[in-house]
Amino acid sequence: MGIYREHVLPRMVNAACGMKAVAPLRRRVCEGLEGNVVEIGFGSGHNVPFYPDTVSRVAAIEPADVGWRLAEKRLRAATVPVQRSGLNGESLPFTDDSFDSALSTWTLCTIPDVAAALSEVRRVLKPGGTLHFLEHGLAPDEAVRRWQHRLDPVEKRLFGGCHLTRPIVDLLTGAGFTIAELDVFYEEGAPKFLGADSLGIAVSA
Ligand SMILES: C[S@@+](CC[C@H](N)C(=O)[O-])C[C@H]1O[C@@H](n2cnc3c(N)ncnc32)[C@H](O)[C@@H]1O
Repeated sequence: MGIYREHVLPRMVNAACGMKAVAPLRRRVCEGLEGNVVEIGFGSGHNVPFYPDTVSRVAAIEPADVGWRLAEKRLRAATVPVQRSGLNGESLPFTDDSFDSALSTWTLCTIPDVAAALSEVRRVLKPGGTLHFLEHGLAPDEAVRRWQHRLDPVEKRLFGGCHLTRPIVDLLTGAGFTIAELDVFYEEGAPKFLGADSLGIAVSA
């Protein structure tokens, strides 16, 4: 499992997350990010080209060394400073109230203790700071949900602990965020069980 998790999986994630079809979604979720930003689950940096010029620096949190290495080309072309600043979204190495915005794309599905990670994001965001999110999770339709529950154990095993059935908006509100913007949709070209996305902005009180 070590070689698969540490070497094969990050490359699979890099290929899947690098699909051109999702570029417009990345552009949308990054719109309005500003100031000091923390990105949890940075992966191989596919959001880097979409950071707007209102961002002054990005602290990237990512456990996979391979992901970080695969990000090199995008990091060289980055227009804002990006620093790998931590390995685990469940425990962020920052003082309280140190960021203006946070970013998470297709990461809340995978972090083992997602409630702890959201609580950490709230802790390090300034009051009124925003979490921009683009996440797949529990589908709005019961028929799709049934398939998600059936396939969840396989998904978790093959894709490094990725869950199909996490209720993204409930997790955000349960962590104390207020949803300011939300779009729930099925991603074009993806099977519905995998592409039930929530894209929006959550505000930390
Ligand atoms: C499906 S990938 C998404 C990568 C990237 N956000 C993107 O949109 O291309 C999920 C990422 O979450 C990372 N991850 C897993 N556990 C994590 C944790 N505890 N804290 C932060 N990131 C984590 C994985 O290494 C992986 O890079």
